[in-house]
Amino acid sequence: MSQSFFSDDAVPLELLRQRAFNLRWAQQPEGVIPLTAADPDFPVCPAVQEQLIRYVKDGVMSYVPPQGLPAFREAVAHWMHSTRQIDCTPDPVFATDSAASGMAVVARASLRPGDQVLIPAPVDFLLQHTVESAGAVAVRVPVNRSTSADEFIALMEAALTPRTRMLWLCNPHNPLGVVYSRDWLLKVADWAIAHRLRIVSDEIWSDIIYARNRHVAVASLSSEIARNTVTVYGFSKNFALAGLRVGCLICTDPEWHKQIVAASDAESTVYGVSVLSQVAAVAALNHGRSWLAEFINHLQAQRDYVVERLKHWPGVQINPPQGTYVIFPCVRTLAPNDDAAAFCDRLRHEARVALVPGLPRWFGPGSEGHVRICFATSHAILKEAFDRMEPVVNRR
Ligand SMILES: Cc1ncc(COP(=O)(O)O)c(C=O)c1O
Repeated sequence: MSQSFFSDDAVPLELLRQRAFNLRWAQQPEGVIPLTAADPDFPVCPAVQEQLIRYVKDGVMSYVPPQGLPAFREAVAHWMHSTRQIDCTPDPVFATDSAASGMAVVARASLRPGDQVLIPAPVDFLLQHTVESAGAVAVRVPVNRSTSADEFIALMEAALTPRTRMLWLCNPHNPLGVVYSRDWLLKVADWAIAHRLRIVSDEIWSDIIYARNRHVAVASLSSEIARNTVTVYGFSKNFALAGLRVGCLICTDPEWHKQIVAASDAESTVYGVSVLSQVAAVAALNHGRSWLAEFINHLQAQRDYVVERLKHWPGVQINPPQGTYVIFPCVRTLAPNDDAAAFCDRLRHEARVALVPGLPRWFGPGSEGHVRICFATSHAILKEAFDRMEPVVNRR
C-alpha cells in the first residue's frame, strides 16, 4: 500500500487508546475495535498541526471577537462560496464551539416552550436532544433511504399544527448516508417557507460526499430560503477536529443572527470558541483541501469494501451511503426481535468489535433493527473487524 495520510500505519493506535473517547478506543476494553462514534482514526492534516504550533510559539493568546476571528469568518465564507455556491460573506458567520453547541444556541434563540419542530426519524440524536433542551417538542417525521420529497411533505402536512415553528434537516443524513438532491430540498424548503417554518440545516457532513453525488446547501436554493435558514457547519467530520470543539452557524437574516448571538451570550464573553480551535479551522479550510480530497478517496474505497463485506451477512439489507462515513444496514435477520442492542453485545463479546445499535436513544424512532458502522479507519482495521464479525454473524 502506498504511503499516505490514510495508509494502514497512519493510525496512531497507542495515542487513540489514550485520547479517543466518546465510545471509541479510550473507552473500550483492550482489544475491542470501535466502529462507533463518527470520528476518524487518523491524525489531523499537517497544515493544521503546523499552524497550531506556530500560533502557540508566538505566545499571544488574547481574547478574540465574540463572533469569531475575522480570518475564521472569512475562511468559512470563502469555503461556502467556492465549494457549494452559497452567496456567503463573513458577516452571517458565527463561530461556535462545535456544531452541537451551535444548534443549541439556535434552538434557544428561536424556540419557546411548547413550540413544535419537525425532525426526520431516524436521525442523529442531537437534533431531538437539542430541541427538547430548549423546551420545545420534537415531532418525528419518518424517513428512509428512498422517501421522496412529496412523501416527506405529505407526512409533514399530517404532523403540522398551529404550534409548528421549524423544520430541522440533516444533509447529508446521519445515519442513512443520503445526500439530498436539489429537487428534493427545493420542494421541501419551499413547503416549509409556505407554512412559515424556519429551517435549521445541519450540514456538518457536507464535505464527505462520494462520486456521482453532490452536496446542495439549503441556503443556496433561493434568497428567500436562505433568509429563513440557519446552516450548521463543523470541523469534526471533515477535518477530524472533534476534540477542538469548533463549528459555526451561517444565518443571513440580520435580525435572527442578532438573536442567535444574543442567546449565546458571546458578547459578554460567557460563550466563545478557543482561539486555537479557530486557528486550526482556518488552517484546515485554507490549506487542507488536498488532504480532504485524499481522505474522501480513502473513505470511498472503505465504503465500497464495507458494502462488499456486508453482502456476506445473511439477509442483511445494505444501503451504500452517498455521503458521510457511516453505514446503517438493516440486520433484522440477525437480531431476534429487532434487538440491535443484543446483536451489538454479541458482536462486542464474540468478535471484539463495537458498533452503535439502532436505538431510539441514538437515532430516534425508525432505527430499530439497524446498526451503525463507522468506517473512518484504516483498511487493515476495517478488514480485521469484518474478519472477526463474519464468523459470528454466520454462526446462528
Ligand atoms: C449530524 C450531526 N450533527 C452534529 C454533530 C456534532 O458535531 P460537533 O462535533 O461539531 O459537535 C454530529 C456528530 O456526530 C453529527 O453527526
